[in-house]
Amino acid sequence: MNSKILITGFNGELGSKILDFLAQKNYSIIGLDLNKKLSQSDNIKLIQGSISDKDLIQSIFDNNIISEVYHFAALLSQTAAKNPKLATEINENSSINLINCAAVHGVKNNIKVKFFFPSSIAVYGPRKIHNASEFDIIKPTTIYGINKLAVEQYGSKKHTEFDSKNYGIDFRSIRFPGVISSDSIPSGGTTDYAPQMIHAAATNKQYICKLSKETLLPFISIEKTVLSIHQLMGMNTINSTLRVFNIQEASFSVEDLYKAIQHKFGEFKIEYVIDNKFQSVADTWPSSLNCDEAKKKWKFTSSEDFEKFIKKMINEMIKNEKN
Ligand code: SER
Repeated sequence: MNSKILITGFNGELGSKILDFLAQKNYSIIGLDLNKKLSQSDNIKLIQGSISDKDLIQSIFDNNIISEVYHFAALLSQTAAKNPKLATEINENSSINLINCAAVHGVKNNIKVKFFFPSSIAVYGPRKIHNASEFDIIKPTTIYGINKLAVEQYGSKKHTEFDSKNYGIDFRSIRFPGVISSDSIPSGGTTDYAPQMIHAAATNKQYICKLSKETLLPFISIEKTVLSIHQLMGMNTINSTLRVFNIQEASFSVEDLYKAIQHKFGEFKIEYVIDNKFQSVADTWPSSLNCDEAKKKWKFTSSEDFEKFIKKMINEMIKNEKN
């Protein structure tokens, strides 16, 4: 049997991009998502179902040889805050079940299953820190951050169990900052203001911002996100007991972004209607991330130039609006 890649949450912002990227490279893929997607091809099998359906997950592993898992099915931070019980069920319990299934599958088939988990800056807290490293004290205050941290720790522990073996699970994770994509406008997250604001400007609309103008957060483009995941997962082994890495491209305040947009579009109106549900979360997340470990262990690179980064994001978004 040919080995396959399992992608959960293939309809999401990250999942859909990774699905396209890996499909172009002709991998055999099994996708799982709550929602349907019509386009299928010979090497892609898409299954509609929930990540919390343990029987379904088990049957996927029983009926295939899965060599890699990309696990994107999740609730974003603001959606999680509104449904904490569901968040723990999906973001934590289902992730742990998937890690366990992958590890058992690896043992049974005598292979090392590579497992990618997208973590988040949400694991930080309770105070905003600058240049946050993987070794800083982390005490998340949100359910989203608490669930992400639990999975990071569980996956890292499982990885250690199989460290000296050539079967089991090889856990790899990235703590993502806000992700900016030119062709989708996310909702349900705290960092979503950035793509939403650029999109509003590109479509001549006023933007109502729920975060204060001073709020500083780190960001990355979707293109760099996909390449980074591919780079991390493409390594045969990562010589590191640290399994979760920080990456970012640029760090900027709401006002920095507003000014850059205004520079590009001229007149653009913004109104600040601060929403404490958003502000109180953003205030516990780091203003920037230290990426030294990722640079050292798997050669992550970043130009870290705000002007260049933001110009590229705005231009991509305008290009997409026109298409
Ligand atoms: N970008 C995510 C959110 O805002 C954090 O990982 O929910």
